[in-house]
Amino acid sequence: MQKHLLTLLDYSQDEIITILDTAADLKQKQKNGEQHRYLDGKTLAMIFVKNSTRTRASFEIGIYQLGGHGLYLSGSDSQIGRGEPIEDTARVLSRYCDAIMIRTFAHEDIQKLAQYATIPIINGLTDSFHPCQVLADLLTIREYKGKLQGLNVCYIGDGNNMANSIIVGALKCGMNVSIATPISYEPDQSVLDFAATVKDASFTLTTNPMDAARDADVIFTDVWASMGQEEEAKSRQLAFQGFQVNDELLDVAKPDVMIQHCLPAHRGEEITAEVFDAHANEIFDEAENRLHVQKAVMYLLMK
Ligand code: CP
Ligand code: NVA
Repeated sequence: MQKHLLTLLDYSQDEIITILDTAADLKQKQKNGEQHRYLDGKTLAMIFVKNSTRTRASFEIGIYQLGGHGLYLSGSDSQIGRGEPIEDTARVLSRYCDAIMIRTFAHEDIQKLAQYATIPIINGLTDSFHPCQVLADLLTIREYKGKLQGLNVCYIGDGNNMANSIIVGALKCGMNVSIATPISYEPDQSVLDFAATVKDASFTLTTNPMDAARDADVIFTDVWASMGQEEEAKSRQLAFQGFQVNDELLDVAKPDVMIQHCLPAHRGEEITAEVFDAHANEIFDEAENRLHVQKAVMYLLMK
């Protein structure tokens, strides 16, 4: 297993499957009421420079269920918000804690944290990647479809942290990936470069959502304006017209297509209320699986 979880680019297919299998096992134990305090007495520092509901709740509850403690540090209340260097934060928290989960803006900050910390670093979302979310998505898809290899995965919308993470995670698991974004909202070049090296699954980038959704087994979408892009919200609403997950789009997908959305969702923008409601079970199972995959990640990195 890797030391950190910064992006799934660093992980092999076997390592990803190990996380999913461990998550499935922990989920079963949790449902059966079996004790699984594998991280008894350990502490996870949780740094949030951006807002969160799911990530904070699932990490804090997850570490508690594993017998450990979650220490919440917000960007604004801690010295991070007053400009203390990330290098110093890394070295201090390494002396108190057993791992750090961080949600922040620049991906370089998390790389710096990993460089200076002596304990595992877990990415709880950066501008570039959201690996814990895509692990939850892969677990959910495997639960619904019974497999990952060979499925057609489509993502409609902004080439953001979710698009980047889905491309990497899905291709690594042998899934064919089609992405539709407006011009100049494409995924990161480093991710496109990785996709170009993949031989055993197909990758397509288009500006046509219908082309991307044709024969899809799974359709993903995410908000048009991510955290930190609030000032662009209006221009983005114009740029993303036509990039909505709606019934017309679902008509060209497989009849049993499932919908995944990391949440929070903006009904009437990236997804219609009708599609959201018809697929709410899949979407909230996905949200639940954040807890189980993150417990697996913490267990595998902190044990
Ligand atoms: N999907 C997700 O990461 O949700 P939060 O922003 O609520 O953590
Ligand atoms: N792309 C979104 C995901 C939120 C979980 C954002 O970064 O705000």
